[in-house]
Amino acid sequence: TYVVTENCIKCKFTDCVDVCPVDCFHEGPNCLVIDPEECIDCTLCVPECPAEAIFAEDDVPDSQQAFIALNAELAKSWPIISERKEAPHDADEWNNKPDKLKLLER
Ligand code: SF4
Ligand code: F3S
Repeated sequence: TYVVTENCIKCKFTDCVDVCPVDCFHEGPNCLVIDPEECIDCTLCVPECPAEAIFAEDDVPDSQQAFIALNAELAKSWPIISERKEAPHDADEWNNKPDKLKLLER
C-alpha cells in the first residue's frame, strides 16, 4: 500500500485524488490519508503530490513510520475524496515545514 505522510498536513494540495483509479483517499480537516485496504499500488499518486508526501509503505522514512498506522486508522472514519479541490491559501508556506504532526486535526 501507499502512505500519506506528515508533509501533507496543512498543504493538502489534493492533486493526488484526481489520479487514483480506486478512490482510496480519505479527507480530514487538514490532510488526506490512503485506505490501505483499497490501494492497489498503482503508484500514480506519488509524482502528483507537490509536497512529495506519498511513499510506498516499504519506503516510508523512519521519522514517518507513525503514518502507516494513522492512514489505516483515519481512513476508517474520514469520508472519501475523489475530486481535486482548491488547496489552502497558505499551502505553499507550509510545504516542508518540520514537526507538523502535532498540527494534525482529526
Ligand atoms: Fe490510489 Fe494508486 Fe496512490 Fe494507491 S498508489 S493511493 S491506488 S493512486
Ligand atoms: Fe496531500 Fe500531496 Fe495529496 S499534499 S492532499 S498527499 S497531493
